[in-house]
Amino acid sequence: MPATVKNAPKRATAQSMAKKQREISISEFFTKNRHLLGFDSPAKALLTTIKEAVDNSLDACEEAGILPDILIEIIPVEVKKNGNGDKTLTLEPEDEKPKKKGAVAPGKEEQYRVVVQDNGPGIVREQIPKIFGKLLYGSKFHSLKQSRGQQGIGISAAGMYGQLTTGKPVVIYSRTQDQDIGHRFELMLDMKKNEPVIKKDEEVNWEPVHGTRVEIELTGSYKRGQHSVDTYLEQTAVANPHIRLTYRNPRGDEMIYSRAAAELPIQAKEIKPHPYGVELGILMRMLKDTKQRNISGFLRKEFCKVGPKACATVVETAGFTPKKSTRHMEQVDVKNLMDAINSTKIPNPPTDCLAPIGEELVLAGLKQRFEADFYTSVSRPPSVYRGNPFQIEVGLAYGGDIPADKLAQVLRFANRVPLLYQASACAVHKSVLSNNWRSYGMQQSRGALPTGPLIIFVHMSSVWVPFTSESKEAVAHYPEIIKEIKLALQEAGRHLQRYIRRRVREKDALKKQSYIQKYIPHIGIALQEILALEESEKEEIIATLTDTLERSRKL
Ligand SMILES: Nc1ncnc2c1ncn2[C@@H]1O[C@H](COP(=O)(O)OP(=O)(O)O)[C@@H](O)[C@H]1O
Ligand SMILES: [Mg+2]
Repeated sequence: MPATVKNAPKRATAQSMAKKQREISISEFFTKNRHLLGFDSPAKALLTTIKEAVDNSLDACEEAGILPDILIEIIPVEVKKNGNGDKTLTLEPEDEKPKKKGAVAPGKEEQYRVVVQDNGPGIVREQIPKIFGKLLYGSKFHSLKQSRGQQGIGISAAGMYGQLTTGKPVVIYSRTQDQDIGHRFELMLDMKKNEPVIKKDEEVNWEPVHGTRVEIELTGSYKRGQHSVDTYLEQTAVANPHIRLTYRNPRGDEMIYSRAAAELPIQAKEIKPHPYGVELGILMRMLKDTKQRNISGFLRKEFCKVGPKACATVVETAGFTPKKSTRHMEQVDVKNLMDAINSTKIPNPPTDCLAPIGEELVLAGLKQRFEADFYTSVSRPPSVYRGNPFQIEVGLAYGGDIPADKLAQVLRFANRVPLLYQASACAVHKSVLSNNWRSYGMQQSRGALPTGPLIIFVHMSSVWVPFTSESKEAVAHYPEIIKEIKLALQEAGRHLQRYIRRRVREKDALKKQSYIQKYIPHIGIALQEILALEESEKEEIIATLTDTLERSRKL
């Protein structure tokens, strides 16, 4: 028996610890770790909320084949200071409370109602509470299809943040094409149960024929600049030339981004997972869930690109018979199966699951937004990381109104969504930095972005973008992805190099010409004196020389 020390603090026992051990609900987890979802500062919270709602609207419109027309409004809300009862549910223990009385500067952290309305397909009434009042509920997580949303966390997390900071419910209007009436919901989220609480559920006359309107009231901060809502919407319009946006900022200014392309992007196909991509745990779950009775059927039906030959090789390498039951797989069998998959040659996944923007539309988007002298774009062929198909596109805009004395601006996009935060953690940033821009005629200090009038646009489309966190701000550093970005940058860089060289040559020629031009009248006078020419002869010589110079300028 261990010796007891006198006056020692009472230590925990397995039993006392057991009393404290309990399940943590997903909403409780993300309430404490809201930074993981992009709600770590008031300015970012406002941006993330708008981003989640707009991304959903765009995904839904495109999936339904509707050209998106989206309204975004940020409306300042006046909050009564003295106990109006509205804030009973609101503030989180420590971190939301102002440190000292009056510590929050006026205008820095304010209350806004964010409105995002789309002309999409609408949402079926029964689904509305779960979509907006339950974390991890969505249609995209289980499908390998290129879309902006992935995790099924986005919009409900925004609603939860609004509820935490203002105590107000999320308001949703929605109408589907087959209904002549709209639905209006007021929803809260029960943090303990991660379940929706319906405050109001009513039928309303809502004008749009179909679509969804989300209203979230939250504490936020409206700022301009690199990480702002304004920049996000501006860049969204660049990467999505087919959309129309109407944006009203808190000051009441209205901005309209009109369409630069009249057609929807090609609809990307959903694919089955590629066997090279699966991890052991996933493989075990798939074997448990499959309706296929034997291993051959499982390999052929649950994955893409497994033909009869590859299937036979995998089965044989794993030491199974083709009819081995999927119901009787021990852990060691699953491990053997995975090893067999990885040592068998299986063709790359199909690429019709990708919907790149396309070289022409990358140019159209850049031209719509930036006044430049030169534009170029490059779409790489599709490639694969961890079994997931992806494709990289790069666009450059150079010269014109783009500031010449600043560092180049890098616009990062994943599945057409602008990424505004965490640049230095992103594979795109890393690839841009490690590219040698000096070889194209740009200035670049060691380890820095190039300096000059340059916009660098990089887009990754994939069925699954490997973000570094749930807030979807930076792309993870997979070597295959970095390699593809570099190749695209190099190709676009060579186009830029040709343009810069030509411009340098033209500038040189122009300088020489203007130099000669200055001396032509003097040559005329000198020749007149030496050869005792008439005034008209001198004028003729000057005209001929000027004409010759003009002709050389046109060459
Ligand atoms: N504006 C909308 N129109 C139609 N469906 C929507 C809309 N917003 C959300 N949804 C549906 O709700 C689901 C959950 O959305 P969200 O929580 O943002 O997760 P995710 O977008 O990652 O799937 C989406 O998958 C989509 O099916
Ligand atoms: Mg979403």
